[in-house]
Amino acid sequence: MIADVDPFRAIAISRLAHKLAGEGRDIIHMEFGQPSTGAPQAAITAAHRVLDTDPMGYWENDRLKARIARHYAEAHGVEVDGEQVILTCGASPALVLALSCLFAPGAAVALARPGYVAYRNTLKALYLNPLEFACGPEQRFQVTADALAALDPAPQGLIVASPANPTGTIIAPGEMAAIADVCRQRGIRIVSDEIYHGLSYGEPAGSMLEHAPDALVINSFSKYFSMAGWRLGWLVVPRDLIDAARARMGNLFLTPPALAQHAGLIAFDCRDELEAHVRSYVRNRELLLDALPRMGLDRIAPPDGAFYIYADVSHLTDDSLALCESLLRDTGVATAPGVDFDPVEGHRFMRFSFAVSTALVEEAVARMTPWFRACGNAIAAPASQAAGA
Ligand SMILES: Cc1ncc(COP(=O)(O)O)c(C=O)c1O
Repeated sequence: MIADVDPFRAIAISRLAHKLAGEGRDIIHMEFGQPSTGAPQAAITAAHRVLDTDPMGYWENDRLKARIARHYAEAHGVEVDGEQVILTCGASPALVLALSCLFAPGAAVALARPGYVAYRNTLKALYLNPLEFACGPEQRFQVTADALAALDPAPQGLIVASPANPTGTIIAPGEMAAIADVCRQRGIRIVSDEIYHGLSYGEPAGSMLEHAPDALVINSFSKYFSMAGWRLGWLVVPRDLIDAARARMGNLFLTPPALAQHAGLIAFDCRDELEAHVRSYVRNRELLLDALPRMGLDRIAPPDGAFYIYADVSHLTDDSLALCESLLRDTGVATAPGVDFDPVEGHRFMRFSFAVSTALVEEAVARMTPWFRACGNAIAAPASQAAGA
């Protein structure tokens, strides 16, 4: 039996956006969670230097592994050995390694719905069973310890993401500890996707390693470090899984690009430049949180982190893919439909990524405001006509 893996719907929107741009339209890309800022300048300078001097073979940068390990001590007070850090080509292969190290085909792995589309599809590609459970605004779209404790039978695994995609919500430290407790009691192995660490607008997100030392933790240079196309990330594994994870990395992916590993080590300490990006996301977030309700999109959970706003558009449509497409054709603003993140409720949601410049967010707001108002009015009109009739 061939695994049934769904496509990213946002890619269809992105393709249309690029086609329209090719026809001369001015497009604002808010469909993907992709910083527009590029790698830190010092990392780029180092990469230029390395290109001239390094043969660029298969390589594992031990200094980068040690630097990442030190980060866990400094930021989270947990001890990680460099050997526990497996360098990967981004978070995506790290997810494949983590799941294939922990679970045999057929295992049930719980995850929040809505959630990052690739969780469900990577699970399916590995013949694992995604056990998605609905997490609405009351749970701030996150798995809770109580919900996990109530699952019968207990799943073999759990994927958590904090901050999450598409909602940007963070699991509070107390809840994270409670989730870790339930998992310990019920023998559930945890995969914690911490790719949006560094991007938070209140308290910084904690690492699952603070509560569950045997959790497998995924991270990447794609978001905070603004290096998505460099394809570099990592997986932290407990000591007993180092060999299994290394064997899978070697066979499936060999090593991440040598150039990216050189640049990543430098990027790790470019904090001033990276924090400047975070400050611009703070501003973008505020602009959208102010503007969206004025467009009639007032059912949103203010994101604690990442760079997304997930908005309920059920008053306008039950086909958010069509809504995103109309918005793009009419205004040039590309966004992601909720169906990618939630196959059940997502057709009533859409996601705005604010990882673009503040000037572009302002421009997007200027274009979207009259469009959403007109859309709302068009829907309200027949109802009020009917009421008057
Ligand atoms: C929650 C989450 N995990 C993983 C990834 C994959 O990231 P990478 O570019 O590091 O493979 C993404 C990408 O958007 C994401 O949102």
